[in-house]
Amino acid sequence: MREIKKIGVLTSGGDAPGMNAAVRAVVRTAVYNNLEVVGINEGYQGLLDRNVVELGSRSVGQIIQRGGTMLRSARCEGFRTPEGRKQAYDYIKELGIEGLVVIGGDGTFTGATVFSEEYDIPVIGIPATIDNDIYGTDATIGYDTALNTVVDAVDKIRDTASAHNRLFLIEVMGRDAGFIALRAGIATGAESILLPEFEEYSDKLQEYLNNKHKKSKQNGIIIVAEGSKVKAYDIYKEVIKTHPEYDVRLSILGHMQRGGSPSAYDRVISSQLGVAAVEALLTNRSNEMVGICNREVVFVPLSDAIKEEKSLSRNLLRIVDILSI
Ligand code: F6P
Repeated sequence: MREIKKIGVLTSGGDAPGMNAAVRAVVRTAVYNNLEVVGINEGYQGLLDRNVVELGSRSVGQIIQRGGTMLRSARCEGFRTPEGRKQAYDYIKELGIEGLVVIGGDGTFTGATVFSEEYDIPVIGIPATIDNDIYGTDATIGYDTALNTVVDAVDKIRDTASAHNRLFLIEVMGRDAGFIALRAGIATGAESILLPEFEEYSDKLQEYLNNKHKKSKQNGIIIVAEGSKVKAYDIYKEVIKTHPEYDVRLSILGHMQRGGSPSAYDRVISSQLGVAAVEALLTNRSNEMVGICNREVVFVPLSDAIKEEKSLSRNLLRIVDILSI
């Protein structure tokens, strides 16, 4: 067991539903093990602005069901500089923090990796981003909720698409990855899905526009990942020009995908990962991410989590071709 008395916790990068549930789990596991907890507000920025708050069991009551993050979040430019990280480290020492739990995605883990290489402070990462683009974990916190939010929105759009016999292009988030787009497309019975990982699928879209739709379908949904090379807006303009037979509309779902109450799945993994992160700090682990594989907690070096590519299943995409006839 590592002899530590105080830990810090922060949420950083794009917020994700379930971050609050993870903060709650971290704080309560720490208190359970007689540790003090400092909540760092607005991600790494809070370390530069000396913006922190003491947290106890009761401070994290009634947050498991809330979207957003009670600690707020930020993308911190200052922490990218050696001077900024030095300032952060000095403040951590001044506060007596002996271990850090960082909750976030790629950018958060990149910052944590550099920080822990430069300074002697144990850091454990909890993957939280709606994009699900972190290697070494089946799911990131927030992905399941965002996916269900997208499915709900697309179902609603399908109602009006079908009432007006329209073709809808729907852009979904995911940064450079197509995880949300692929699963949302399958779950909503999309006619075509465009993903950054498989650009050749834009040919399928052309095929669909040229043939299938005109013959028998009343309406259509095309899901376009925001990271796709061809952007939803450009496809929209192109379809208007080249396929006047379609009554086409464009819908960009935007930040509503990041909000809302976390799903049961996200609340459960947030709880599992929060507990595991604090127990990891207590058992001498450092510079690792806690993840979920086959429902069990796993540990992955933080550097692998950001460097390795998480692959998208081509098999899943293949079934879209079969099921959208
Ligand atoms: O990483 C989460 C995410 O919502 C991405 O899907 C999206 O590309 C990005 O953040 C949007 O960032 P911002 O909130 O800074 O506009």
